Amino acid sequence: MKKLRHFLSVTDLSEDEIWKILQLTKKLKSSPLSKYDKLLCSKTLVMIFEKPSLRTRLSFEIGMTQLGGHAIYLAPSDISMGKRESVADVAKVTSRMSDVIMARTFEHSTIEELAYNSSVPVINGLSNLEHPCQILADLMTIYEVKKKLKNLKIAYVGDCENNVTHSLALAGKALGYEFTAAGPKGYWMDKGIIKRSKAKQLVKPEDAVRRADVVITDTWVSMGDEKEKKERVTRLSSYQVNKKLMDLAKKDAIFMHCLPAYRGFEVASEVIDGPRSVVFQEAENRLHAQKSLILFFLGKL
Ligand code: CP
Ligand code: NVA
Repeated sequence: MKKLRHFLSVTDLSEDEIWKILQLTKKLKSSPLSKYDKLLCSKTLVMIFEKPSLRTRLSFEIGMTQLGGHAIYLAPSDISMGKRESVADVAKVTSRMSDVIMARTFEHSTIEELAYNSSVPVINGLSNLEHPCQILADLMTIYEVKKKLKNLKIAYVGDCENNVTHSLALAGKALGYEFTAAGPKGYWMDKGIIKRSKAKQLVKPEDAVRRADVVITDTWVSMGDEKEKKERVTRLSSYQVNKKLMDLAKKDAIFMHCLPAYRGFEVASEVIDGPRSVVFQEAENRLHAQKSLILFFLGKL
């Protein structure tokens, strides 16, 4: 019997598989009305959310509609996973009725527990440790603009102990780009992830951004960190991506952000709303990449 696969970390896919998914993403984007239209007829995706979402929910739900399938949204209060019933029981029941599960959790161990108890693929729609679905869309966006991934210099600035940062760092090892993150001590990437990737952790934003092809940031206050908002804003205030910092990157460097963004904090509006920003192209690519990912996990690729 074929081993059941899940997408909990970006490292759950090989370099070859990531490229296959990106190629289909490109195809789906250029011809939305394709042979894949009705391919998921009678297939159901169940989406379990412990946190809010705009892009992740839209991309998976609209993606399933466009592929001829159906998506069910379970809001945090709908099932109160772990309180009303155990994570294991939620996984066992849901996977007996559906074809694929996508979950957004606080703890990474929750998504691991879901996967362990599920009889269908489980996709990580963001946990505190990783955001692998976002990174597929990011890779697609970078590839569209730069026409390659290998040997690019990608710089991340701000809160580095962050799901987006971690997945970007890990994907860099597989795809051959150089990933450097800069943030103050106490807000560094997870040590295990630094070890497993070839990523560099620095303190000075200027050192990371100098000659970069891509500059990325994310909110200073991730979902679940709200209680630390005051301290985080103070500690991270010198890490804003503004024009002065962007000017250290290559002339044709692009700016990316997974969104939602907080203008005036992690990024100045002159950058996110300026000519080098590709954030809305990046957001749109969530849809195409998620369709491709679902097709891959349902064995249609
Ligand atoms: N980038 C992202 O995952 O957005 P949402 O939190 O709105 O899904
Ligand atoms: N790092 C952010 C990403 C939001 C899409 C968070 O976890 O809130």
